[in-house]
Amino acid sequence: MSNLTIKAFVFDAYGTLFDVHSVIDKCNEIFPDKGEEISQVWRQKQLEYSFLRQLMGTYETFFSITREALHFACVQVGVDLSEDNENELLDAYLELTHYEEVEQVLEHLKPYQTAIFSNGSLDMLSPLVEQSSFGHLLDEVLTVDEVKQFKPTPMAYQLVLKRLRVKREEVLFMSSNPWDIAGATNFGFHTAWINRQDKVMDELGVKPHFVYKDLRGILEHKS
Ligand code: LAC
Repeated sequence: MSNLTIKAFVFDAYGTLFDVHSVIDKCNEIFPDKGEEISQVWRQKQLEYSFLRQLMGTYETFFSITREALHFACVQVGVDLSEDNENELLDAYLELTHYEEVEQVLEHLKPYQTAIFSNGSLDMLSPLVEQSSFGHLLDEVLTVDEVKQFKPTPMAYQLVLKRLRVKREEVLFMSSNPWDIAGATNFGFHTAWINRQDKVMDELGVKPHFVYKDLRGILEHKS
């Protein structure tokens, strides 16, 4: 049992609730044996482009960045991406599988505010949430697209306070992405790093308040 007074449990989407690498099957279907490589480069560049566009001041939606990153990944891996293939792979991004424990954890959090807070734009997040089994358990789906500032910039996390009407210290923020955990900790949220792949935490001057293998660990913060 923790001594925190959490009023809102807020979740990153990609990698935390949804498995970004569930697109590997579709990638392999189109480009046999290249799926893993394409998916890894695709995710890496998707994130890199969001960081770089934030620094350059050239904001585009995460869906647009996801398309640009896919183009890069296919050229880098040496495959030709037709328009049909592009549409098939981007559609796969709208149907990512979710992690098995998400619904049961959200069921236990019904007395609290629960929200997604993602760099994803609503044209990506809405289909994902609608096809999941837990959309009805989320109070809000928040996107940085509302403020055109990508996480991990502090200005992005400010949206959570405004829309959920809570104080920083009343939020427990979950992400599997070390850079997102660093950003949210830096902003002042309590943070739970969902370290699904046993990664090493980035050296960014802050550490997560809690580390769990999956989302079940956060239930110790129910009061
Ligand atoms: C998200 C991605 C960037 O914000 O992890 O959901």
